[in-house]
Amino acid sequence: MQTKRKILITSALPYANGPLHMGHLLEVIQTDIWSRFLKMQQHECYYVCADDAHGTPIMLHAEKLGISPETLIKQVQADHQADFADFAIGFDNYYSTHSPENQELANLIYQRLQAAGHIVSRTIKQAYDPLKKMFLPDRYVKGECPRCGAVDQYGDNCEACGATYTPTELKNPVSAISGATPEQRDSEHLFFRLSDFAEDLQSWLTQGSVPKEVSNKLREWFEEGLADWNISRDAPYFGFQIPGVNDKYFYVWMDAPIGYLSSFKNLCSKSNLDFDEYWKASSENEVYHFIGKDIINFHALFWPAMLQGADFRKPNAIHVHGFLTIDGQKMSKSRGTFIKARTYLEHLNAEHLRYYFATRLSPRIDDIDLSFDDFTQRVNADLVGKVVNIASRCAGFIKKRFDNRLAATLDKPELLQQLIDAQASIAQNYENREFNRAMRDIMGLADLANQYIDEQQPWVIAKQDGQEQLLHQICSTGINLFRILMLYLKPVLPKTTAQAEAFLNTSDVQWDSLQNNLIDHEIQAYKPLMTRVEKEKVEAMMQQSKDENAAAQATSSQTEIMQSASPIAETINFDDFMKVDLRIAKIIAADHVEGADKLLKLQLDIGNETRQVFAGIKSAYAPEELVGRYTVMVANLAPRKMRFGMSEGMVLAAGPGGKDLWILSPDEGAQAGMRIK
Ligand code: MSP
Ligand code: ZN
Repeated sequence: MQTKRKILITSALPYANGPLHMGHLLEVIQTDIWSRFLKMQQHECYYVCADDAHGTPIMLHAEKLGISPETLIKQVQADHQADFADFAIGFDNYYSTHSPENQELANLIYQRLQAAGHIVSRTIKQAYDPLKKMFLPDRYVKGECPRCGAVDQYGDNCEACGATYTPTELKNPVSAISGATPEQRDSEHLFFRLSDFAEDLQSWLTQGSVPKEVSNKLREWFEEGLADWNISRDAPYFGFQIPGVNDKYFYVWMDAPIGYLSSFKNLCSKSNLDFDEYWKASSENEVYHFIGKDIINFHALFWPAMLQGADFRKPNAIHVHGFLTIDGQKMSKSRGTFIKARTYLEHLNAEHLRYYFATRLSPRIDDIDLSFDDFTQRVNADLVGKVVNIASRCAGFIKKRFDNRLAATLDKPELLQQLIDAQASIAQNYENREFNRAMRDIMGLADLANQYIDEQQPWVIAKQDGQEQLLHQICSTGINLFRILMLYLKPVLPKTTAQAEAFLNTSDVQWDSLQNNLIDHEIQAYKPLMTRVEKEKVEAMMQQSKDENAAAQATSSQTEIMQSASPIAETINFDDFMKVDLRIAKIIAADHVEGADKLLKLQLDIGNETRQVFAGIKSAYAPEELVGRYTVMVANLAPRKMRFGMSEGMVLAAGPGGKDLWILSPDEGAQAGMRIK
C-alpha cells in the first residue's frame, strides 16, 4: 500500500456570465476522472471549484437584462451547478468568487504584496467612453485595423490579419457599448511587479510544474522582460473595492485564482480541515490546477508570483489541456457548433460523453476533436458492445438457472488474474493523466473477456445435459470479469458503476478489493445498464444547438446593430431598399417561449394574413403589454425554422437593449398591413 497523499485539485472557474458548454465539460470531466481515481487510491483528495463572478462583461450583461449583477451570478451559478451535477462532477465544494472569503483573501494577498513592495502606482492613459461614463476594456473598443484596415475589429487584435495592438492605435475607434468615440483619459492604476519574481518563476517552471511545450513558450516572456501587471480597474466595475484607494476595484483576474483558495477555505470551515496545512509556504501537501491553454499566463506567471509574494505555497503543477473542437470546427455560435451542456443532456447520456472524452484525453495540449460519428461508434462498440454486454450475456442464466446466485468456484483463474494484474499499468496511466491509454487497455481486457464467453458458448452448454456446474462457473466467471472492468472504469463512469454495484449486490467495487472475486454470492436481477447511442438523438441534439445558436445570434446581432455606431455598411441602391417590405403589424398575441430566455412569440396581423415571429425582446416587454399594439415588421424576410417553430419575418427595434428596447409604433392612425414606404 502506497503512502496516503493529501491533494487539492481545481478546475478553472467558469465565468458566471452564461451557460456551460462542451469545452467546459472537457475540463471538468478530465479533472473529475483524476480526482475520482486518486480518491479510489485512498488518498485524501479534495476537488474544489467556483464561479468566476466579477468583471465588466458580467456587469454589462446584467445591465442589459435589467437585473443586478448579484442576481445574474446567482442564477448562472445555479444553472452551472445543476449541469455539473448531471454530469456527475464530484466537487467537494463549489463556490463563488463573489464571497466574503474571497474578498478577505484578496485583501490579504494585496496587502502582503504591497507591504513587501511588489505594488507600484502609475498614471496611464486609457480609452474612456464619454457617453457611458466609463473606461473601456480593450475588447469594448472597435475600429479599423491599423495594419490592414479591416473594419469592426476589437481593440486588442485584428481577426482579419492577426495584428496585435493597443486600442489607441485603432483607426476611427468607437465604443462597442454606446457607439461614442472614445477619449483618452488619465487614470492612476496599481501594478503588480511581476519582474520581482522572474528568477523564482523560471526555476519553478523548469521543475515540471507545467508541460514542456508550455515552459518553452513562456521563455519568450522572460526574454522580453516581465512587464508590470495592472491589477486595478476604475468604477463602475463589478468586483471588490481595493482597500485604501478611492473607487478602484481589483481586476477580475486578480481575485479569480484567489477563488481556488476561498472555495477551499469555505470547505475547510464546513468540514474541519486545516487551510494552512495546504497553503502555507512550507506545505508538503499537493496542489494541482487544471486549465485550458488560453489561460496559461495567468496560472503559470501571475498566479504563482502572487502566491509567493504573499507568502503562500505555489502549486505543484498546472495541468493544461487543449481546446475542444466539434466535428473539426471551432466551437462557435455562427457555425452552430456551440453546444451547451444542457442541450447535450436533453438528448444524450452524460456518461457517454465522460467515456468519449476519456478516450481522447492525454497530458498533451493539442486540441481535441469531438466527432459525433466517432463518438457514436466508440460508445456503442466499447461500452455497450464490449463492457455491458458481458454482464447481459451471463446474467440471464444466473437468474433462470441458479436463482441469481454465483458459483462457489470459478472457471479460468488465469484470465481473472490477467485482468487483475493489469491494475498497476492502468493505475499508472490514470495517475499520469494518460486516460486514452487507460481506456485502450481496459477495452483490451474487455475483448479478452468477450473472447472467453465466445469460446465457452454458455448458450450451447445450457442445452447440454449434465453441464449445469460448468454453465454456472462460466457465467459466474463472466460476471466477475465484468466486475473488474467496471472497477477500472469507475473514475470515468461513476453512475453506471453505482448501478453495476446494485446489480452485483456489493459496494466492494473498490481498488483495494480488486482481488475479492464474488463467490457463492447472490446478485440482483439484471437491468440494462446502458443503451446504444442513437443517431437520431445525436441529430436532434445538433439541430437544437443550431437553432439555439441562430436564436442567440439573432438577438445579439439585433442588439449589436442597435448598439454600435460601427462604420455604415456598404451603400445599397434604391431598388435594394425597395425590396424590403416594411409593414405596420398589429400584435394579436404574444407569448413566452418555453426554454428560451430572451424570446417572445408574436402573432402579427398584417392585413390579409397573420405571421408568427420570434423576437428577442423579452427583457423589455411583458407579453400582456403588447397585445393590441402596433409594430413595424419586415414582411418579406425569408422564413426561418427555429427550434420553437417557424419565424416568418422580423420586427424592428431601437434602443441599447435590456429594458431599453422599443418596438412599438404609435397606435394612432396605425392600420395592420399598411406599407410604410
Ligand atoms: N474565468 C476564467 C478562468 C478563471 S480561473 C481562476 C475563464 N473562464 S471560462 O469560462 O472562459 O473558461 C473556463 C475553462 O474552460 C478554462 O480553463 C478554459 O480554457 C476552458 N474552456 C473554455 N472553452 C474551451 C474549449 N472550447 N475547449 C476546452 N476548454 C475550453 O477562463
Ligand atoms: Zn488587420
